[in-house]
Amino acid sequence: MKYTTVLFDLDGTLTKSEEGITRSALYAAEQMGFTGYTKEQFMAFIGPPLYASFQKICGMTPEQAEEAILIYRSRFSTIGWAENEVYPGIAQLMRSLKKNGAKIAIATAKPQEFAEKIAKKFGFAPYLEAIVGPGFGNKHESKAAIVKKAMDLLGGVPVMVGDRCFDIDGGKANGIDTIGVCYGYGTREELESAGATYVVDTVGELTDVLLDDSPRAKGIFITIEGVDGCGKTTQREALLAHLRELGWEIQLTREPGGDEMAEKIREMILDPANTAITDLTEAYLYAASRAQNVHALVIPALDKGRAVVCDRFVDSSIAYQGGGRRLGTERVARINAEAVDGCMPDITVYLRMEPEKALSRRLSASEPDRLEREKASFFERTYMGYEELYAKEENRARVITVDASRSIEEVSKQMIELFDEKLWALEG
Ligand code: TYD
Repeated sequence: MKYTTVLFDLDGTLTKSEEGITRSALYAAEQMGFTGYTKEQFMAFIGPPLYASFQKICGMTPEQAEEAILIYRSRFSTIGWAENEVYPGIAQLMRSLKKNGAKIAIATAKPQEFAEKIAKKFGFAPYLEAIVGPGFGNKHESKAAIVKKAMDLLGGVPVMVGDRCFDIDGGKANGIDTIGVCYGYGTREELESAGATYVVDTVGELTDVLLDDSPRAKGIFITIEGVDGCGKTTQREALLAHLRELGWEIQLTREPGGDEMAEKIREMILDPANTAITDLTEAYLYAASRAQNVHALVIPALDKGRAVVCDRFVDSSIAYQGGGRRLGTERVARINAEAVDGCMPDITVYLRMEPEKALSRRLSASEPDRLEREKASFFERTYMGYEELYAKEENRARVITVDASRSIEEVSKQMIELFDEKLWALEG
């Protein structure tokens, strides 16, 4: 790698912050009686000082602008800072940089307090050596001074990455190379005329410039498990939204199923008309679908650095075929060892729900498939299959157990908290 220290601007480079900024500005304008503006009109608030924007865009007097800023800040400091999302691919980039020994810092004109909160909430914190922003009482510190502070802290061979001419100017003032990114709030012309060393259009291109032929970090493999009726589909969506917010590119898959071939196997397994399938055949069919999914979807996506989310995986076979069908966990594990080929999840979300509660939920749901038509005792054994599997020491490191019997919001909240903890532990 040409650069061993990477300094990132925050807004428009790592995160898309327009929601929080425009909504807070709209709120302030409305409170002051300046109504009827749209988010599009207020996109111009991103970048320039608020004081100027309130006057220019809304026609406020300087005194009104001062008042509007106070209202803006009251909303931004409580809600607006979190109305933010990380650009897809940034999580992979950060991991790959770290894996290759680069030092990473945020060098931002945003008040340091908010930059720190954002880094924590959006998952950069484990990758960063420093967050440098203007300190309190020094709001107008120049980008050049901020970049200098970060360079002094980190050493190495630095490069400044940003979406606006100010970022490029700040890097150049310190004599270092710069990379302008066009996916943020600046334009290619702006970045080129500021004299950026490189100008890139996408996070992928940025990754190529920074890493050249150094190895990329592998993705993370996440599976979701639980008995039928545990609320898996709803919580899966919440987890996907969370991963997106953290800047992961995602490959979603499911079992049985995944790609076209595996979906054909799924149809065969779940068709209520296929009553002749023996228990052992069923176990092999799930394993066949899994082998297809692992090799056609999971491994290639992990190689691209993605977060792979798989709705059910090998643990389902252990619980359903091993426990529910009484084939025995050892036997089912053996059948599956070949199918998964060593590809095991980094994190498994177990949505734990007592079988009686899951049954009452299922009864109110749609037309049952072949498996869902099983007797209550089948699901009790399946539940016990999960419980025994996850009580084993060797599985503790990857499994988070979520109490799925509570409200949707409570379950999501607990799941995401436990997930983040596990992810940060994995990321060191
Ligand atoms: P499920 O994900 O619940 O599908 P849907 O949400 O569309 O109902 O999975 C289908 C069924 O297959 C479910 O009852 C669990 C069962 N199953 C096994 O018995 N063994 C396995 O290995 C897997 C992956 C699923």
